[in-house]
Amino acid sequence: MEYAISTQNLTKRFGNFTAVRNINIQVKPGEIYGFLGPNGAGKTTLIKMLCGLLEPTSGNAQVLGMDLSQETEAIKNRIGYMSQKYSLYEDLTVMENLEFYSGVYGIPLKTKKEKLRQMVKMADLCGRENDLTYGLSSGFRQRLALGCAIISNPSIIFLDEPTSGVSPTSRRMFFEIIHSLAEEGITVIVTTHFMDEAERCNKIMFISGGNLIAADTPANLKNNVLEGTLVQLSLDHAMEQISRIEQLPYIKECNIHGAFLHVILKNESYIDKLEKITRGHAKIITPSLEDVFLALSKQKKAGDSFEQN
Ligand SMILES: Nc1ncnc2c1ncn2[C@@H]1O[C@H](COP(=O)(O)OP(=O)(O)O)[C@@H](O)[C@H]1O
Ligand SMILES: [Mg+2]
Repeated sequence: MEYAISTQNLTKRFGNFTAVRNINIQVKPGEIYGFLGPNGAGKTTLIKMLCGLLEPTSGNAQVLGMDLSQETEAIKNRIGYMSQKYSLYEDLTVMENLEFYSGVYGIPLKTKKEKLRQMVKMADLCGRENDLTYGLSSGFRQRLALGCAIISNPSIIFLDEPTSGVSPTSRRMFFEIIHSLAEEGITVIVTTHFMDEAERCNKIMFISGGNLIAADTPANLKNNVLEGTLVQLSLDHAMEQISRIEQLPYIKECNIHGAFLHVILKNESYIDKLEKITRGHAKIITPSLEDVFLALSKQKKAGDSFEQN
C-alpha cells in the first residue's frame, strides 16, 4: 500500500455552503500529517469524512487501500478518532473508561489486561487507575482519551486539536507519544494551532475557507513559500509605521512579530533603503512556519480567486 490515505477532489457542502472544496492529499503510512488552518477552515469536516462519519458531497478517497464510499464500515474498524470534544465518561474511573472502550471495540479477553496496562502507562496514570476521570487535569484526560482511541490497535489515528487547552509540558509529552506511535508504523493525522507542533509533523497541509492552500514538509514550506527576502526590523513605534511600510513599492509584506516587524522585501538590495526610511535596523532571518502561514493567509485574502462553490 503506497498511501494510507489518498483523496480525489473530496468536497463537502452544507446546503449551498462549501465547507471543504476539492481536496487532494496523499498521506504515507507511518507519517505524521498536520492539518493547519484558522477556525472554520474545514479541518474537522475533512477528518469526519475520512473517518466515515460524514458522507462527502462529491469526490472520493481511499483509506488504508479501501474505498471510502464502498467500504466505510471496514475503514471504521481500522482507525481511531479522538474528537475535539473527546468522549470520556467523567463519572467513570480511568480504568472503567478504558474497559468501556475495549468493550466497544471487542478487544479479546486474552489481550485485554495487557492492553489496558499499556494504555494506563502511556497516559502516565499508573497508580491512578481508580480515580474518577472528572478529577483529572486536562493533560491526563487527553492522554487517556488517546488511550481510548488507540485501544483497538488502529492503523490510522485522527486527532482533532488534541492539545488545545493543556500545558506546554503536556503538549510536549503528547507529541512524544504521537512520535512513538508513528515509529510503530501508525499513521497520524493531527490538527493543531501550535507552530511548534506543526514543526514536528512530517508533512503539513494548510487549509483556509475549505481550500487547500499548501501541502508540503515544514522545511520545503519555509524554503519555498516566501518569495523575496525576509528581514527582522527593529524600530521605534513599530505599530504606527506598519501601514506606511506596507505601501513602499519594494515591500511584499509586513507583519508584527513580538517587538519586531517581519518584512518581506522583493530582494535584499532594498535593505539599506528600508533602514533609512524607517530609521530601523534590519537583519535577514530564516522564515519560521509562522511567517509562512501568515504569508499564505494573506495570499489567500489578496487573491481570493477561489470560486465560491
Ligand atoms: N453540520 C454543519 N452544518 C452546517 N455548517 C457546518 C456544519 N459543520 C461545519 N459547518 C461549517 O463548515 C465550516 C468548517 O467547519 P469545521 O470543519 O468545523 O472547521 P475547523 O475544524 O477547521 O474549525 C464552518 O464554517 C462551519 O460553520
Ligand atoms: Mg475543528
